[in-house]
Amino acid sequence: MTSGAEPVEQDVVDILTADHQAMVELLSTIETTPDAKQQRELADTVIAEVMRHAVAEEMYVYPAVEEHVPNGAEEVEHDKHEHQEIVELMKRLEGIDSEDPSFLVTVRELDQLLRHHANDEETDQFPKLRASIPADKLVDLGKKVENAKRLAPTRPHPEAPHSELFHKTLGAGVGLVDRLRDKLSGRHTE
Ligand SMILES: [Fe+2]
Ligand SMILES: [Fe+2]
Repeated sequence: MTSGAEPVEQDVVDILTADHQAMVELLSTIETTPDAKQQRELADTVIAEVMRHAVAEEMYVYPAVEEHVPNGAEEVEHDKHEHQEIVELMKRLEGIDSEDPSFLVTVRELDQLLRHHANDEETDQFPKLRASIPADKLVDLGKKVENAKRLAPTRPHPEAPHSELFHKTLGAGVGLVDRLRDKLSGRHTE
């Protein structure tokens, strides 16, 4: 292309912030959807999206925070702890029938945890990341995140260690197994 303004490339913070927005919107939609089957499908979609997002963060974004942000290691420890809570809650949600009254209670609980965690990242870690990493590197990091999201697990695995090593060596394998299970069970997570 030689004419017109080039579209501005999204950096990693743009991508992750848009993910957060999409997650909370999906959760709100569950609350206003009257059909239990649709509620189940929406919940499975949110779970898959949160898993991809959290794994991509742990693979590429949190290591960058640890490396470049002052007190980054502490911030990452806190964030990973919150991821674990979110994954455990999603595991519970996976097993609750959407006609059961506790389904919506659990959806609301997940909504609160996610909003809190996303707010931490958006007001603290992400601005610090932008302040400490050059713009082109943030765009590169965004591409890595998009790629990791394609390979990441789609189902919660609270028993699995959430270290970056795990996700780098086994993440794609776990993701593959999850997607196979999604296909067999008719879950729409692609
Ligand atoms: Fe996170
Ligand atoms: Fe996030």
